[in-house]
Amino acid sequence: MRVAGRVTREVLIMIRDKVEPGMTTLDLEKIASDRLAELGVKAAFKGYQGYPCALCASVNSEVVHGIPSSRRKLKSGDIVSLDFGVVIDGYYGDSALTAPVGKIDAKTAQLLKTTEESLKAGIAVVRPGATLGDVGAAVQEVVENAGFSVVRDFVGHGIGTRMHEDPQVPNYGRAGRGMKLKAGMVIAIEPMVNAGGPDVKVLDDGWTAVTSDGSMSAHFEHTVAVTVNGPRILTEYLV
Ligand code: MF3
Ligand code: CO
Repeated sequence: MRVAGRVTREVLIMIRDKVEPGMTTLDLEKIASDRLAELGVKAAFKGYQGYPCALCASVNSEVVHGIPSSRRKLKSGDIVSLDFGVVIDGYYGDSALTAPVGKIDAKTAQLLKTTEESLKAGIAVVRPGATLGDVGAAVQEVVENAGFSVVRDFVGHGIGTRMHEDPQVPNYGRAGRGMKLKAGMVIAIEPMVNAGGPDVKVLDDGWTAVTSDGSMSAHFEHTVAVTVNGPRILTEYLV
């Protein structure tokens, strides 16, 4: 899973570093799929429940599962959430981040920073004996202290030889509640955070989730192993 995680993050960072005003989200998909072809590596998402692409690219009020499109052109001030994963020798990696396009306003920058910090806070409590409620509560506290809201309709997940395994990993909860983590488990923690209210709806394409109030939304995700020494982020970028 370390190998899958590393490749996942490497490609994700490469895509992020190419984000520029004027590009379409399909251009980003092309960067991802070209790199996968070069590496001879399989995308985790393509074909998953009929999902048509390697990448999810969700712009502004799109929360997750935005389908790359030649009609979706990025402009300065936008944000784009990039969610990506690979499968190598049967093992999955899954990671996401939200990138600014050109220059973004201060509140949106704060949304990105808070969401990334909430992911770090969730990861920080991971250890054998900690509960899923501990993780959710840690994420939720960072988000709500900043005045933003946690999406409830989508959650993180166990991951391993399938992309989605038990348990579900909510980004909200109460400390001490829920299943206990054990060494050897691997979970994907993935806060989705809205600048406005927590409600989301899915568009007619059957995939794209958007905020109900039209507010901006950010998404950061890592695949994290539970070890006796605490969390080990498998989707870290190591040169
Ligand atoms: N990172 C997403 C998740 O954890 C990937 C699912 S997108 C899909 O659920 F297209 F593959 F469904
Ligand atoms: Co995931």
